[in-house]
Parts: sequence; structure tokens; C-alpha cells
Amino acid sequence: MVNISALVSGGGTNLQAIIDAVSDGRIPGAKMALVISSKPDAYALERARGAGIRTAVVSKAGFPDGESRAAELIRLLEDADTDLVVLAGYMSILQPKITREYAGRIINIHPALLPRHGGEGYYGSRVHRAVLEAGDRESGATVHYVDEGVDSGEIILQGKVPVLDGDTPETLAARVLTVEHRIFVEAINTVIGRLAGKGA
Ligand code: GAR
Repeated sequence: MVNISALVSGGGTNLQAIIDAVSDGRIPGAKMALVISSKPDAYALERARGAGIRTAVVSKAGFPDGESRAAELIRLLEDADTDLVVLAGYMSILQPKITREYAGRIINIHPALLPRHGGEGYYGSRVHRAVLEAGDRESGATVHYVDEGVDSGEIILQGKVPVLDGDTPETLAARVLTVEHRIFVEAINTVIGRLAGKGA
């Protein structure tokens, strides 16, 4: 059994897509082990509790220095026997200690076609605003491994959507989200397959 732990910060529609896929057998051999939020009031926590998944909060307020925050995250992930970490709308930058510890076993979803519109400062609706300001005719989502940089790890899967005349950051975000939910599940299956191939 592959234990998946998710890091979240917001509404958690990607988390919900993963929970649903695990529970109806579209991610075979996987179990949701733990959901950790960087924000105590994230709706994603409600979704996790509703599905009977263990939750925890590791916020900047609770752990002001990066070292202790990283140590707490690692402690919780290890305590849950985590095999795969998914960043599902996680809005903090992880310390290298964590990305090194989980190298090859930690993935993120980004709401644009990396390497366009990624890196520090590009998250959530800011990404969609940047796509519209650049006049791009297409956008999409990217699932990638997390390395020590920001949105710089190896790409696993991308999905595209058109940018339409009259799009706002909100309409574009909604179109991209439907693709996110599909490719995140597919990418998780890909990574689990690769881990199994390595005898993990
Ligand atoms: C998603 O669009 C995700 O790609 C993005 O935040 C949204 C979270 O939505 N993540 C980032 O921007 C990370 N840099 P959700 O909470 O409904 O899954």
C-alpha cells in the first residue's frame, strides 16, 4: 500500500479529486494517510475530515522559523509512514531538508504550462493574471517533481486549455482546474508506477 500525504493551503478541490480517485479505485494500491495544512482555516481540512483522513496544521504562526517548521513537517510525514507527498494547492515554499528527504517522492501541481509563469511569487490567481497579461492563447496545468527550486523540478505531465477572449483570472482558473483534477490523478499513478519499478 502506498501512503499518500497531501500538503494544502486552500479550498482543496485538487485534494478532493485525489480523495475521490483513491476511494473509487482509480489510484489502485494507494491510501490517503495524512493531510497537512499551512492554514488552520483551509477548507481543504474540512474535506479531509469529511473523508475520515487524519489532519494536522503546520503554520508559519505556529512554527515561525523555517527549521522548526521543516522538522515538524518531516516528523508528521514520517509518523504517517508517508511514501508519496502531494502538494495540492500548497502556498508555502518547502525547506531543502524536506525536498531532499522526499526526492522523487514529492510532487506539485502548478496552474500554468511550466516553465512559463512559474517561480517565486507565481501562485494561485497571480498565475492566471500573468497568463492573461502576457496575451498567451493557451494555458494549462503542470504536475512536476519538487526539487530545491520553485516550480523547477522535472515535469511529469501537462494538460492544456485554450485562453478565450474575455477571460478573467477567475474564468481561466476554473477551466484550468478541471484539467488539474484529471492530470493530478494520472500523474500520481505514473509516480506510483515508477516507485514500484524501483522496488519502493
Ligand atoms: C490550484 O490551481 C493549484 O494549481 C494552485 O492553487 C490552486 C489550489 O486550488 N497551486 C499553486 O499555485 C501552487 N504554486 P485547490 O485548493 O482547489 O486545489
